[in-house]
Amino acid sequence: MKTSLSSKDILSLQDISASEISSILSLASKLKKDLRKKDFSKLLTGKILGMIFQKPSTRTRVSFESAMIQMGGSAISLNSSDIQLSRGESVDDTARTLSLYLNCLMARVYDHSDIEKLAINSSIPVINGLSNLFHPCQILADLLTIKEHKKNFKNLNLAWIGDGNNVCNDLLLGCSKTGINIKVACPKGYEPPSWIIKIAKDSCINSNCNVDILNDPIKAVLDADVVVTDTFMSIGMEQEKIKREQIFLPKYQVNSDLMKFADKDVIFMHCLPAKRGQEVTSDVIDGTSSVVWDEAENRLHVQKAILYMLMKKK
Ligand code: CP
Ligand code: NVA
Repeated sequence: MKTSLSSKDILSLQDISASEISSILSLASKLKKDLRKKDFSKLLTGKILGMIFQKPSTRTRVSFESAMIQMGGSAISLNSSDIQLSRGESVDDTARTLSLYLNCLMARVYDHSDIEKLAINSSIPVINGLSNLFHPCQILADLLTIKEHKKNFKNLNLAWIGDGNNVCNDLLLGCSKTGINIKVACPKGYEPPSWIIKIAKDSCINSNCNVDILNDPIKAVLDADVVVTDTFMSIGMEQEKIKREQIFLPKYQVNSDLMKFADKDVIFMHCLPAKRGQEVTSDVIDGTSSVVWDEAENRLHVQKAILYMLMKKK
């Protein structure tokens, strides 16, 4: 098992190979099992993670900070409104400065180009904690959750229902690298970007799986082992609420009528936060097939694996 990563940064799952994904998941599982023994409590002693937030966060913020504390390090949360970024200091100069004080930087940004600028101008590893385009740490936690419930990825069918958004984009990359067949069902005009679909389709050739982009949720869910959705109003899209509700509802809601088309042992996943009654109904997210709390817990274990693998070589 590899214990370091070839890329300095994790901006999307494009930065991580299939074998590196496997190593991250193995280390995360090991750290999860060791939680009670706390064998890992000194792995990052003296290391400091900085966390820039341009947007709100519950899971990403707390799982990263807890991960650092549990491994003997510490984390500093930097709301972008509280630092000089809010007064016009450039992202580039912010990255150069923070590199002098920290060992690793995680950032949640609106525009993906900001995380790219942070990475280019930092001498320390930079992790994308969600941008308009990608959410790599979420998908690593999702893959760990799928592995725990389905044992392996081969011949699995995953259906994504809803918006072709940041979470969907990295899920396309993650499934196509690990060999999970993925069907994405979105309203016309809300599909993932064509360049990301192309990368996923190319990657499928090596891992022997399929990527299908559809508009029909029933076709996507038919015999699915895993059904995944997310809000159709990502942070920053609040002004599109009425338009999006008309486009996505009722057809793209994951409810028990839709779940009937899936495999009998289907699991339901959602990165959270969820809006019950919108993209998913309460009976599905709170029902027996839902694994959303395992998924949320796994954010912590995956963050630990990522942080260790990125900082170990520093
Ligand atoms: N899933 C996720 O990233 O949650 P937060 O927005 O609460 O961090
Ligand atoms: N797609 C959502 C994910 C939140 C974790 C958003 O960008 O707001």
